[in-house]
Amino acid sequence: MSSSRVFSPLYLLLSISLLLQLAVALDPIFHECNTTSFTPNSTYNENLNTLLSQLNSTTPLTGSGNGSLGQSPDQVYGLASCRGDINSTVCQACITSAAIEIQQYCQYKEEAIIWYEYCQLKYSNLDFFGQIDYREAFYDALFSNVSDPASFNTSVINLLKVVEGQAIVSPKLFAMGSLGVGNSTTLYGLVQCTPDLSSANCETCLDWIIGFVPRYLYGKSGGIIMTGTCEFQYHTYPFEAT
Ligand SMILES: *[C@@H]1O[C@H](CO)[C@@H](O)[C@H](O)[C@H]1NC(C)=O
Ligand SMILES: *[C@@H]1O[C@H](CO)[C@@H](O)[C@H](O)[C@H]1NC(C)=O
Ligand SMILES: *[C@@H]1O[C@H](CO)[C@@H](O)[C@H](O)[C@H]1NC(C)=O
Ligand SMILES: *[C@@H]1O[C@H](CO)[C@@H](O)[C@H](O)[C@H]1NC(C)=O
Ligand SMILES: *[C@@H]1O[C@H](CO)[C@@H](O)[C@H](O)[C@H]1NC(C)=O
Ligand SMILES: *[C@@H]1O[C@H](CO)[C@@H](O)[C@H](O)[C@H]1NC(C)=O
Ligand SMILES: *[C@@H]1O[C@H](CO)[C@@H](O)[C@H](O)[C@H]1NC(C)=O
Ligand SMILES: *[C@@H]1O[C@H](CO)[C@@H](O)[C@H](O)[C@H]1NC(C)=O
Repeated sequence: MSSSRVFSPLYLLLSISLLLQLAVALDPIFHECNTTSFTPNSTYNENLNTLLSQLNSTTPLTGSGNGSLGQSPDQVYGLASCRGDINSTVCQACITSAAIEIQQYCQYKEEAIIWYEYCQLKYSNLDFFGQIDYREAFYDALFSNVSDPASFNTSVINLLKVVEGQAIVSPKLFAMGSLGVGNSTTLYGLVQCTPDLSSANCETCLDWIIGFVPRYLYGKSGGIIMTGTCEFQYHTYPFEAT
């Protein structure tokens, strides 16, 4: 992965496995670490450990968790959230991995985020709650192409907009839906925002990433775009949580 800092362009994920193989569903899709390190075994480190352990125990109960511990400059903020359609068992498995792996992938980094198919976890020394994360977006596409890209493009955007409309008024800021395309194909879509966003910010975040569909996912039979605060996925088979 590029180590350079990219503000608006999307990264192409090198892993295309997430949409293809459920067997790898518990592997992280992507992670991002701040370049600033904290001192090992410092107060910040202790606050982080405690917060990760708290998020690990509270998140599976409702599908999301947040918290803040300590006093500036050692204060840490954290947020974890599971995909809206999975149960607490799958959520716990995902968050348990995330709490360990975020520290392996971003060892001693002041700020980090890790995404999986079924959950995401992030922490920072800064209060990020409620703010749209515009710093970067990641996309990935299925390798297979559709035969009618122009109408498929329209169908994907139409479906994602409908599902977005449902998500922004739902308590979990999550929705999924489907749309028949052609004679025998059904398109399935899923959108979600992190639970700290307002409905209006969720809509702004989703509008932003859905706007990238023609540029990055044109003609692709499945795709995903994710940011620190919202994501969507679509493909022509149903979503399954395993
Ligand atoms: C690290 O965090 C600071 C403060 O939020 C931010 O300005 C900077 O862009 C971040 N760097 C990386 C690599 O994420
Ligand atoms: C941090 O503390 C642990 C447990 O006390 C110790 O094993 C480890 O060596 C310490 N690490 C550093 C870098 O001080
Ligand atoms: C997270 O919770 C699981 C299940 O209770 C537990 O096995 C694991 O040790 C916990 N991890 C952390 C970092 O607290
Ligand atoms: C889909 O299209 C891309 C770009 O035109 C091409 O590189 C890729 O090989 C195609 N995939 C398949 C499965 O044909
Ligand atoms: C894809 O569909 C959207 C919404 O209908 C439209 O605005 C956009 O121009 C289309 N892009 C292409 C490349 O066809
Ligand atoms: C859809 O079904 C109609 C009626 O069976 C048929 O005439 C048409 O060719 C089919 N279109 C596609 C794209 O398969
Ligand atoms: C943090 O979680 C609590 C309890 O679920 C909730 O009331 C609060 O709104 C959440 N805060 C953020 C910023 O998400
Ligand atoms: C949770 O979901 C998984 C995958 O769908 C399923 O295998 C498991 O039985 C479910 N567990 C509970 C307690 O519902």
